[in-house]
Amino acid sequence: MRFPGLVDVHVHLRVPGTEHKEDYHTGTAAALAGGFTTLLAMPNTQPPLVTLQDWRIAQTRAQKESLCDVFLFAGASAAHIHELPTLAEHTPALKVYMDATYGPLRVQGLSTLSSIMQTWPSDKVIALHAEGESVAVGIAMAAIYRRLVHFCHVSRKNEIELIADAKARGLPVTCEVTPHHLFLTQADAARLGPLTDMRPRLASQSDVDALWQHLNSTIDCIASDHAPHTLAEKAQADPPPGIPGLESTLPLMLTAAAEGRVSYERLLELLYHNPRRIFKLPAQSDTTIEVDEKASYIFPDHPLYTKCGWSPFTGCKMTGRLISVIFKGKEIFRDGKVLPTKP
Ligand code: DOR
Ligand code: ZN
Ligand code: ZN
Repeated sequence: MRFPGLVDVHVHLRVPGTEHKEDYHTGTAAALAGGFTTLLAMPNTQPPLVTLQDWRIAQTRAQKESLCDVFLFAGASAAHIHELPTLAEHTPALKVYMDATYGPLRVQGLSTLSSIMQTWPSDKVIALHAEGESVAVGIAMAAIYRRLVHFCHVSRKNEIELIADAKARGLPVTCEVTPHHLFLTQADAARLGPLTDMRPRLASQSDVDALWQHLNSTIDCIASDHAPHTLAEKAQADPPPGIPGLESTLPLMLTAAAEGRVSYERLLELLYHNPRRIFKLPAQSDTTIEVDEKASYIFPDHPLYTKCGWSPFTGCKMTGRLISVIFKGKEIFRDGKVLPTKP
């Protein structure tokens, strides 16, 4: 079965600042090994990408060091609101962290949030890390300022139901879910320990069931939230939240399709059409992936490309394997190997 090169709208590639966790080369190799040829990377780096200057330096590096297309989000911070109009001319979208997660980038206070919501162009996406009641605040902002708001990694029943109601009332909101919130619960968190600590935290079975119920309607995108940290960091007393996901997302979703939980057509909307439409991403000519949707194997069936080197899905049985990736006319991945190529 052939698909266009997939789009992951939520990854952390750790450049600049913590390249020991991931860099553009290893992160995009992992993307290709997972069937993705376009990535949108998050700005919670060190320094965070909140100024045009820092964003430009990182985007130039991304262009040089990546094996596939990488677009960088700009980040919002109270001290740099004046940078937003120029950042909006260059970046695909703005990320606003409303709740605490990895790193210090966060927007607090209603007046700062409203001023960001009014300054960023209303027809350009603001992606929110919003949990619980922050989702309601984000929906209110979309309604009041008639602007696009995208909810990252929605994980709870009450959140997805609120977003469904907002959409039913015609508000310009969109959302993504991650495979880890579709395939893991709090019970797995108890079993796997700090490896599965992430924000939002894993949820209950009834939350997971609600996400699956909304997969054919409310949910616009599947995004990995690939958030690599080393095993040594994960073993520390206060481990950083986040798990890698670029290489497990497609196998997990193909497995769900093989089991009849979602159709292959719907996967194409969730992993390609909707991400491109929402973030207004350019088409990639002659870029396709080939999968053997019937192949069964234990994940991973080849060494992982992410620099962090581990996955919470190691040992899981998957049905559906990536065979090859053609990127802009050249074969760049085949049979478990990213092929040598000039970045
Ligand atoms: O678990 C998470 N890790 N959630 C986030 O929002 C950030 C991410 C990271 O950067 O590690
Ligand atoms: Zn987040
Ligand atoms: Zn994230």
